[in-house]
Amino acid sequence: MPSSNDFPSANGPRPSTPTFFNNSFLNLEPGNPTMYESYWKKMGDKCTVVIKGSELLSYMTDENNVCWFMLPELNDAIERLHRLVGNAVTDGKHVVVGTGSTQLFQAALFALSSSDDSPQPLNVVAAAPYYSEYREEVEFLQSKLYKWAGDAHVYDKDEPCIEVVTSPNNPDGTLREPVVKKAKQGKLIHDLAYYWPHYTPITHMADHDIMLFTFSKCTGHAGSRIGWAIVKDKEVARKMTRFIQMSSIGVSRESQRRAAKLMEVVCESYENVKHIKSENFFHHSKDMLTEKWVKLREVVEQSVVFSLQKYPEGYCHFTGEISEPRPAFAWLKCNNGIDDCESYLRGLSIIARGGKRFGADPKYCRVSMVGKEDQFNELLRRLSNVTGNSKNEH
Ligand SMILES: Cc1ncc(COP(=O)(O)O)c(C=O)c1O
Repeated sequence: MPSSNDFPSANGPRPSTPTFFNNSFLNLEPGNPTMYESYWKKMGDKCTVVIKGSELLSYMTDENNVCWFMLPELNDAIERLHRLVGNAVTDGKHVVVGTGSTQLFQAALFALSSSDDSPQPLNVVAAAPYYSEYREEVEFLQSKLYKWAGDAHVYDKDEPCIEVVTSPNNPDGTLREPVVKKAKQGKLIHDLAYYWPHYTPITHMADHDIMLFTFSKCTGHAGSRIGWAIVKDKEVARKMTRFIQMSSIGVSRESQRRAAKLMEVVCESYENVKHIKSENFFHHSKDMLTEKWVKLREVVEQSVVFSLQKYPEGYCHFTGEISEPRPAFAWLKCNNGIDDCESYLRGLSIIARGGKRFGADPKYCRVSMVGKEDQFNELLRRLSNVTGNSKNEH
């Protein structure tokens, strides 16, 4: 859910100068990517899309494509973006567009489980700490096709399963590989929502059977609700398309057109040698996230209450730099005998998502790093003001 600070009021947008009072709640629970707004504001009219009343009326878009409701311009823009960044192989694969990666995850579950011969629902697992929504999405419809089977680390059933591999991982930003042993391992869904160069070094071209990406985390346009899957097997792509047909008869063409335009603007800025690199989207966003992480680590290093894990450095083929990852979330740990980080933070009027929701220890909490700057500065202020927080206090 978006934070209350980001919602427009019923009377139009709120004033753009939110002030945080000491007792007002700071909502860093959702991963609402509003930090990117400042970049897109600077782009002015470059990304404006005009759609005439006479356009985009048809249900159909491209009958020759497996994903028949996908705009060819979006398909092209997605392939161009992946070629530019070098984060995923698209050659010879099928792109399926969805109303967010959330819909595509469910489409992938349907496609993989409906082709399974077993009379039992297929087990769905993810290694803890896992993205909290997987469990809820799997359990929501009480499907006969699949069921949630928990932490992939401890999966020991002699039955096939679907393992969701999220890399970089939400909530903890680590790079992941499948953990279920080969013999038992059934099918894989790779959720690569954060495999973009502002969050992590691009170390290789991902090349998996089903790879999910989302516009929400790539450029920050979560409200457009665009995600895409890159799928190796045509039949799986067809089934995913069928699922989307059954749930929404396709995906908004207006959103597709806007996404395509924004992706083209990102690509053009890199292809234009006159552009200053640091002002291009991924470089600019990387710098913003780097600054946030440096500041957060400074506060946490002074603290006896909180700690953060270190990430190994990697060489990024896209930027040509060696750097640490800059995850979209801080996976904050409470020490000093504090067992419930979420409640502890609530005491500081900070709302964050507790470890339990991710199948992990409640000593951990997930705090969004992709909110607006004033929210983030307020987070730093509140964390550094904790009584007994400082290592320098006696
Ligand atoms: C790992 C991961 N996958 C999928 C999603 C959902 O993305 P979308 O907004 O495209 O539905 C999120 C959103 O936070 C996410 O973190």
